Amino acid sequence: MIPAIAVHRLDKRFGATRILRGVDLSIEPHERHALIGPNGAGKSTLFNLIAGAARPSAGRIELYGADITRLVPAAICRRGLARSFQTTSCFAKLSVFDNLRCAAQIANRDRMRWWQRFTNARAADEHAEQVLDAVGLRARRDAIAGTLSYAEQRALDLGLALASGAHTLLLDEPTAGMNRAEAAHAVELIRAATAGRTLLMVEHDMDVVFGLADRVSVLVRGEVIATGTPEAIRADPVVRAAYLGDLGGDLTGNLGGHLDDTDGATRGTTR
Ligand SMILES: Nc1ncnc2c1ncn2[C@@H]1O[C@H](COP(=O)(O)OP(=O)(O)OP(=O)(O)O)[C@@H](O)[C@H]1O
Ligand SMILES: [Mg+2]
Repeated sequence: MIPAIAVHRLDKRFGATRILRGVDLSIEPHERHALIGPNGAGKSTLFNLIAGAARPSAGRIELYGADITRLVPAAICRRGLARSFQTTSCFAKLSVFDNLRCAAQIANRDRMRWWQRFTNARAADEHAEQVLDAVGLRARRDAIAGTLSYAEQRALDLGLALASGAHTLLLDEPTAGMNRAEAAHAVELIRAATAGRTLLMVEHDMDVVFGLADRVSVLVRGEVIATGTPEAIRADPVVRAAYLGDLGGDLTGNLGGHLDDTDGATRGTTR
């Protein structure tokens, strides 16, 4: 089967520093795949390369068999890959619905012939209404995006990716900064919204990883040291040793899988 995302021998240098070192990664179609690893391992850098926001120093990236290594972000987006950022990417002064409608219109416009564009507006509206339900923001339809809570803004971010019609989603720390209840809700939204799509996400919280991922890859100092089911990864002595080395012996909140904060407390990343 052709992978949804295939990364071959990917290298990224910043000056003399080699941040990614021959990364190989294969994400199956419709798989939910989590990328974990200590701070500074190169996870966001890898996302930047896949989404076209930065160029690799060497290696190759394929989306459903097509070489996207040298494409610009807009071209990769048109091929159905959407990426959410850690900070929200919506128009703060537009309503939730208008944000979604914009994303849907732009996506449709790119795929349509000029004579089809006359029907574009209505199709985009219908699509935006569906996405509104998919990400649980129906009650906030007419709210100005800038007034949403943090968790709602992340839901809108996910909605923008869905409205763009993406079949493959890259989510970078989708639950960072959320409390327990918000994170649990976000996991459910992501699970429902990514059914039938391919998901690659960076996530520090092993509860979230366990709740969502079919497989997990572990990136340590620019190298993938293991790929497997969440259970296999959590039990892998090499992975545990790598985390122990990088986190000074503290597994709490990472591979231990138990965050000891209480409901209502804001969860951070592993800093
Ligand atoms: N534009 C850049 N120029 C120079 N160094 C960079 C640049 N971007 C990232 N780096 C470095 O590359 C390394 C990997 O960074 P990256 O943001 O990919 O890590 P990460 O795994 O996403 O970490 P975190 O878990 O903290 O988000 C870090 O040492 C970072 O300082
Ligand atoms: Mg990062």
